[in-house]
Amino acid sequence: MDVRTAIQTRRAVKQFDSQHSMTQTEIDELLALALLSPTAFNIQNWRFVLLRDPALRRAVRAVAWDQAQVTDASLLIILCADVKSWSKQPERYWRNTTPDIQNFIVPAIGNYYRDQEQVQRDEAMRSCGIAAQTLMLAARAMGYDSCPMDGFNFTAVGKLIKLPEDHVIAMFVAIGKGIHDPWPRGGQLPREVVTLSDHF
Ligand SMILES: Cc1cc2nc3c(=O)[nH]c(=O)nc-3n(C[C@H](O)[C@H](O)[C@H](O)COP(=O)(O)O)c2cc1C
Repeated sequence: MDVRTAIQTRRAVKQFDSQHSMTQTEIDELLALALLSPTAFNIQNWRFVLLRDPALRRAVRAVAWDQAQVTDASLLIILCADVKSWSKQPERYWRNTTPDIQNFIVPAIGNYYRDQEQVQRDEAMRSCGIAAQTLMLAARAMGYDSCPMDGFNFTAVGKLIKLPEDHVIAMFVAIGKGIHDPWPRGGQLPREVVTLSDHF
């Protein structure tokens, strides 16, 4: 499937085949593609928590508006981010480059994020949003459906997955085989409402 078709056919699916399992090869391929998503300064601040334990899925569903995707999707990924990844051995994000590049960019990372709590959090959300879309389009290309989700109690989910203090949860992406047609599209805003030329 080409990218255009993946974009056009991706929909937020509410009902998944709870009997379908993805193979480990498929999961590996999906994650390998997701890990190619861009992050600022290549800090790769996302962390992908794959909820495998059925009891944990049920517990998460109970704090996620009882949404069926949480238990029925073949894969439920909680997209989290380490908001301090910029400070944790940042040289590893550029280890394959030349000393010239390393000497320039590694100090720049610290200069950009140090004491900038809001920027650190914004960056976490940007990275996870992009990774979520990569996951959903890659899933589509592999013949799967998906649902992006933020309808859940973030604090309660954080407790259930033992989220570290310096991490945040951005959203879920549920992936699996859809078993019902999605709702009709809600309706896209006219392009002239959402696009501007040069300024507001
Ligand atoms: C950040 C985000 C959170 C969402 N949360 C939920 C959710 O909790 N449950 C759900 O069924 N759909 C959720 N959706 C799906 C949206 O309702 C859906 O993407 C939107 O209506 C457009 O439909 P489409 O994705 O099928 O084009 C979410 C989408 C996004 C981007």
